[in-house]
Amino acid sequence: MAIVEVDKAEDLALAQAHVWKYIFNFINSMALKCACDLGIPDVIANHGGRPVTLTDLATALSIPAVKTDCLRRLMRILGHNGFFVRQTNGEGGEGGEETYLLTPSSKLLVKDNPLNLLDFMEEELHPVFVSSWHYFSEWFKTAEQRLFKMAHGVSLWEYNSQHPEMNTVFNAGMASDARFLMNVVVRKCPEVYQGLNSLVDVGGGTGTAARIIAEAFPNVKCSVYDLPHVVATLPKNDIIQGIGGSMFESIPSTHAVQLKWVLHDWSDEECVVILKNAKKAIPSREVGGKVIILDMVVVENADNLDLTETQFLFDVLVMVDVGGKERTEQEWKKLFKEAGFTDYKIKPVLGVRSIIEVYP
Ligand SMILES: C[S@@+](CC[C@H](N)C(=O)[O-])C[C@H]1O[C@@H](n2cnc3c(N)ncnc32)[C@H](O)[C@@H]1O
Repeated sequence: MAIVEVDKAEDLALAQAHVWKYIFNFINSMALKCACDLGIPDVIANHGGRPVTLTDLATALSIPAVKTDCLRRLMRILGHNGFFVRQTNGEGGEGGEETYLLTPSSKLLVKDNPLNLLDFMEEELHPVFVSSWHYFSEWFKTAEQRLFKMAHGVSLWEYNSQHPEMNTVFNAGMASDARFLMNVVVRKCPEVYQGLNSLVDVGGGTGTAARIIAEAFPNVKCSVYDLPHVVATLPKNDIIQGIGGSMFESIPSTHAVQLKWVLHDWSDEECVVILKNAKKAIPSREVGGKVIILDMVVVENADNLDLTETQFLFDVLVMVDVGGKERTEQEWKKLFKEAGFTDYKIKPVLGVRSIIEVYP
């Protein structure tokens, strides 16, 4: 066993802290979920824009006095992570009392915000998903593509079809993302949908994205094409049509096909099959036929390290959950070529995600 040289001890201690940080990173996720489950962002949001003191927060949440200091420590880590602004007021004796305000990130965790990300958090941190990660290293040594399948015996899609409760949680998570993203897309890039007379949102879940497009562009007849157990949950008399089927067999004919957060779930070979079916479903480029993809375009050395880390985390997530992949532009280009498309245009306008229009 090597003896540590004294002048290297400091580096060693920093290296240990770095390892510890990543061992305990799951606490960041769970602390955030805890704050949302307790309703902390809601209490602060409902305080008329004024900072909320620790005492008032504890009272509003019915936290017993014995746990008030635990609440302060929860708020300290969440403040450190950018979810709350922590200040000290002049009250409560020496040093004053700690107060809290929302940040742009925690505003997305307020229940009354129609674009909140709460259902997505609920789904991604659901025990069914989180428990799979214990099989991660075992998964590397097998030919099985899906960690989820190793943990639960069936693919995510089969699991959802057999467990209505998980189907609801998963679809609600997807719908929350669709609400968030599509509200940005239709306002920021209306030209993507203008001039279309029909659109099929393939793998469109319970239709949130298609409904937002149909409302923003009444001339576009919108449909959702997804697995039968998913479209079965669509309401009757909807402004969109639900069609049950599999994109690996065929895709209904339409002016444009949309694939939002679908291709990242599949291997390159599977994506080529889906894209070929999409190509068969649309008319030529001259009359406006196109495939609209809403997904990530991975940039490995971007200036914003937070965005890069989020892209890499997502890539590992889809790799193990569903055997999928987040792709660089070169990887996308290869798929489009193999599927017989002639051109594409990337609009990197959605933070970690982009709009990719692909032309036959
Ligand atoms: C990650 S979710 C994305 C849902 C939606 N596009 C969104 O972004 O909110 C992937 C969707 O693909 C659907 N899906 C899986 N296999 C499919 C298949 N063979 N044919 C059609 N849809 C499928 C799932 O049911 C699910 O709704």
